[in-house]
Amino acid sequence: MAKDVIIACDFSSKEQTIAFLENFTERKPFVKIGMELFYAEGPEIVREIKKRGHKIFLDLKLHDIPNTVKKSMAVLSRLDVDMCNLHAAGTIEMMRAALEGLTREDGSRPILLAVTQLTSTSEERMHNDLLVQGKIEDVVVHYAKNAQIAGLDGIVCSPLEAGLVKSACGSEFVTVTPGIRFADGVVGDQVRITTPQKAREIGTDYIVVGRPITAAENPVEAYNRCLKDFLNI
Ligand code: C5P
Repeated sequence: MAKDVIIACDFSSKEQTIAFLENFTERKPFVKIGMELFYAEGPEIVREIKKRGHKIFLDLKLHDIPNTVKKSMAVLSRLDVDMCNLHAAGTIEMMRAALEGLTREDGSRPILLAVTQLTSTSEERMHNDLLVQGKIEDVVVHYAKNAQIAGLDGIVCSPLEAGLVKSACGSEFVTVTPGIRFADGVVGDQVRITTPQKAREIGTDYIVVGRPITAAENPVEAYNRCLKDFLNI
């Protein structure tokens, strides 16, 4: 199975993003485009980065009625992204519709992942605000199984949950994990974190790394360090 380091390009403009990506003259990193950049620049930013030879994870976390999600996924599929996602909370029916919308006439499609519970949602908030009872780990695994029943490829989760999800859904079920920090780096606002090396040991497929690379004095060096620690190259 493909394993890779995905850089979270959490910039607010095309200029900043392109200037950042121009540092990478050898290996073209897999990049994640989130809501901020996509809403600021529109679909053109996806085409531009794609044209430069990068793979793209479009992190828009869709959540709406099945028909709307299906049609929106068809648009993202035509944009030729490599990976996109939705909220598992939208139900199995919504996830099935998304998959249908995403699948092109020739049967090909981007990787489709589900977000289970956001890492910003604590167990307490999940109980009190969302009225979802039980242990958060059990809810994450339940949502992961729903995503698998719907035919999705995997989920986005904390690296600390990746092992649990792999045990429940099988090693082929893809896990994409943010919350990555170097052992000697700044933690910032992330809580449930691990190092690239530890993420490799846990067996996650893709790590998403933002500030440890984007805010580094030498982003290429920080990216290469991630490649070395996570992929052993
Ligand atoms: O800068 P940092 O490495 O913390 O960036 C992590 C990226 O992963 C950000 O784009 C953040 O929005 C995203 N993410 C996350 N936790 C999740 C889902 C996405 O940190 N549960």
